[in-house]
Amino acid sequence: MQLKVLLRVPARNFHIFYGKSVASVNNMLNEGQNDVQTQTHEHKLKMSGWQIHNYGDFDELLFSDRLKMPQIKQSNECLVKVHATSINPIDVAMLGGYGAAVLKVLRCQPSVIEFPLTLGREFCGTLIQNGMSVNNFKLPVGQRVWGVVPVQNTQGAHAEYVCVPDYCVGMVPESLTNTEAASVLYAGLTAWSGIYLTAQLGGVCGALTADGGGANKRVLVLGGSGAVGSLAIQILRAQGSQVLATCSENAMELVQNLGADCVIDYRNPSKMATLRNFAPYDLVLDCSGQGTEAAEALDFKYDQYVTFSSPLLKNIDSSGVGLGLLKNFANILEANVKSLTNRKGLIKYGFFIPAPQGIELLKQLVERKKLLPLIDSCYKFNELPEAFKRVKAGHLRGKVVVSLD
Ligand SMILES: NC(=O)c1ccc[n+]([C@@H]2O[C@H](COP(=O)([O-])OP(=O)(O)OC[C@H]3O[C@@H](n4cnc5c(N)ncnc54)[C@H](OP(=O)(O)O)[C@@H]3O)[C@@H](O)[C@H]2O)c1
Repeated sequence: MQLKVLLRVPARNFHIFYGKSVASVNNMLNEGQNDVQTQTHEHKLKMSGWQIHNYGDFDELLFSDRLKMPQIKQSNECLVKVHATSINPIDVAMLGGYGAAVLKVLRCQPSVIEFPLTLGREFCGTLIQNGMSVNNFKLPVGQRVWGVVPVQNTQGAHAEYVCVPDYCVGMVPESLTNTEAASVLYAGLTAWSGIYLTAQLGGVCGALTADGGGANKRVLVLGGSGAVGSLAIQILRAQGSQVLATCSENAMELVQNLGADCVIDYRNPSKMATLRNFAPYDLVLDCSGQGTEAAEALDFKYDQYVTFSSPLLKNIDSSGVGLGLLKNFANILEANVKSLTNRKGLIKYGFFIPAPQGIELLKQLVERKKLLPLIDSCYKFNELPEAFKRVKAGHLRGKVVVSLD
C-alpha cells in the first residue's frame, strides 16, 4: 500500500513520504504540513485541458485549467506532458456519442458514467514518469516521445498530460517537429493494421514484426488525400508495392507527390472505369469512409477489400452488444456473399490497433525519409473547437493538429 503512494508522486518528492503510511501521508497533505512540498505536489496535480460532460455538439467542449492530472495506476503506464495532439474523425464522432455503448464494455464499466471525458487519440510530448515495469532504457524519462491513446481511455490527449500503457509509446524520430509527430501514429497505425494485420500483405512476419512487406503487390487506395490514405500510400510505396489511388481532382497533384503510381479523380466516371485495366488488385483499401457499399460499385477483381468504415460501433450503440454484433456479422456476410458471387474477393473491416511493431515500422520509415507527415491545418490549444469544426467540415488534405507549446 505504501509503495502505491510512492509510485504516484514525482521522484524528487519521495523523501517527503518515505516510510509513512497512506493515512499519515493523506493527513500530511490535508493538514498542510510540509507546506512548500505540498503546494508543489498539488500544483502538479492540476492541468489544463478540454473535456466533455455530455455528448452533443462543439459547445460541449469545455476548457479548464483546474483538471485533475492523470496518475500512473498500472506498473506498465507512462505519464507524458503533451506538446501537440491531433483531431481525428473518431474524436468528432465520439463527441456526438458514437461508440459509447462499446467503449463502456471495453472499459469493463457498463454501468459507470464515462464523464468527464477527455478526447484525443494521439500526442507528441515529453516522458515525465514511468511505472515500475516500464523499460527505462527503451523509454527514458525526460525524452521526447510520440504515442496513441487506446479508445477505451476516458482521459485522452486533449490535455496537458496523458497517461498511457508503454506499448502505446515510442521515441519520436528526431527529424519531426512536435506537431508533425502528433500527426502520424493514429492514422498510420490504422493504415498499418489494415495492410498488415487485416489483409496480411506481408504474411505472418509483416503482422508480427516491423518488417512490413508487400513488394510487387498491386494496391488501390480509395481516398488517398486524407490522413489514413496519405500514410497508406507512403507505407506501401516504401515496401515496393504498386499503388493506385483515388481522390478529388484538386488533390491529384498532392497524391502523386506522395508516390502513387497512378491517381484517379473519383468524380470522373470515365477515369474511374480505367481502374479496370489494372485489375486484378491484391488489395483495395478504403480510406474514404465509403464502407462495403463501394466494393459493390467496383466492376473488377480484387483479392481483398478492406474498409476502415465498419458499422460495428453504430450497430452496438443502436441495438446493444448482442444484437449489434449479430447485425455487424450479417452486414459483412451479406457484403461477402455479393462480392464472391460476382467473382470478386473477400471483404473485411480494418481497425486502428496500437501495435508496437507498427509504431516501429512508422518510425523507421520517417527516419529513412520514406514517410512525410501531411498536415492539413494547425491550431492553438485554445482554438481546439475550431479544429474539431475543420475535421467535421471534411475534404481534409492530411491531418488537423493542435499545438500546446
Ligand atoms: N476503423 C478504425 O479504427 C478507423 C480509424 C481511423 C479512421 N477510420 C475511418 O477511416 C476513414 C478515413 O479516415 P481519415 O482520418 O483519413 O479521414 P479524412 O482525413 O477525412 O480523409 C478522408 C479523405 O477521403 C476523401 N474522399 C471522400 N470521399 C471520397 C471518395 N468517394 N473517393 C475517394 N476519396 C474520397 C476526402 O477528400 P474529398 O472529400 O475532398 O475528396 C478526404 O481527403 C474515415 O471514414 C474514418 O472514420 C477508421
